[in-house]
Amino acid sequence: MKGLLLAGGHGTRLRPLTFRGNKHMLPIANRPLLFYGLDHLKEAGVREVAIILGPIKEGIEDQIGDGADFGLHVTYITQGEPKGLAHAVLCAREFLGEEDFLMYLGDNLLEHGAAPYLERFAQGDASAVVGAVPVKEPRHYGVVEMAPDGNILSIEEKPASPKSNLALIGVYLFTPEIHRIIAELKPSKRGELEITDAIWALHKATGRVRAIRLEGWWKDTGQPTDLIEANERVLASRPKSFFAVQGEIDPQANVSGHIALGAGSVIAAGATIRGPVVLGRKVRVESGAYIGPYTSIGDGSVIRRAEIDHSILMENVTVDIPGRIVDSIIGRGSQISERTHHPKGHSFILGDSTQVVL
Ligand code: DAU
Repeated sequence: MKGLLLAGGHGTRLRPLTFRGNKHMLPIANRPLLFYGLDHLKEAGVREVAIILGPIKEGIEDQIGDGADFGLHVTYITQGEPKGLAHAVLCAREFLGEEDFLMYLGDNLLEHGAAPYLERFAQGDASAVVGAVPVKEPRHYGVVEMAPDGNILSIEEKPASPKSNLALIGVYLFTPEIHRIIAELKPSKRGELEITDAIWALHKATGRVRAIRLEGWWKDTGQPTDLIEANERVLASRPKSFFAVQGEIDPQANVSGHIALGAGSVIAAGATIRGPVVLGRKVRVESGAYIGPYTSIGDGSVIRRAEIDHSILMENVTVDIPGRIVDSIIGRGSQISERTHHPKGHSFILGDSTQVVL
């Protein structure tokens, strides 16, 4: 079984976080999002993975390289402009050859990874296995309609009037039969080769597409608030071994719950930390500061006085204010400080498309 991990696209909906880099390298619990997909492919027994690269490639090859650190052999395929998920499969045609493959959208996070797909496939009656979960707003996703006996009745991409509340998850298991379907596929109204159209055509041709309902949480990280939620989910479900303390915690600091603390980091006397939180390397949390649950703080950051809750701070962020920051994502190298001179007021230097909620 081969693996196809998609990291293309423009990441438009995650701006300004994606102006400078690829959205799949944004940190969730201080690890790039894409690393979780690689972990899940590895756990599913895949060894050879191709990563699909789009127009913004920055950081992906540098950090993943040949995949040896993940126990994988990784190659890269340039798709360029995002012409659809089925187009990405077309680009990988030579790499995939005549093998079955797991296709994994790099912006998806699943609690239990791809194992349930393999279990279903092992029954031996499937040309493809797709996964679904009930959601509140199915029209934002691919939607699958299933009969009570599990038979698939329809599959549609982002329908205006969804026929069910079951969203298609961005992980798919395909046999090579999908290639002859994609070779015949026409672009959709929005001009993309849709994987949902290919799956539906495959089902009509073979009657052997199987849908499974997945247990556990699933997150498509399309919007910034999804990243904060994904960070919460991941921190809540990391194993105990993740929460290692390599830095220094002053005996007079007030620390409770699970905390991961990187080498060279210091939690000062009088600082309060309530886990689960992850703090990278060379982070300083000074006296009087508070870090609340479901917060990730990147390497080299400094928190002075402030209270930070349910947030993602990337690397080298400095926060030095007497206030509370909640539900926030703060990009690399940002500084938040207090204005101590006249004229009084808020003072901003913000990049394009920044969001400020005071
Ligand atoms: O997350 C699940 C949903 O993912 C499914 O329910 C939908 O059926 C499926 O079409 C997809 O919808 P999205 O609107 O979330 O797709 P998006 O354009 O965000 O792309 C998903 C991932 O694939 C993302 O990591 C970028 C990558 N991608 C996307 C396109 C269109 C590529 O690598 N190449 C592409 O051409």
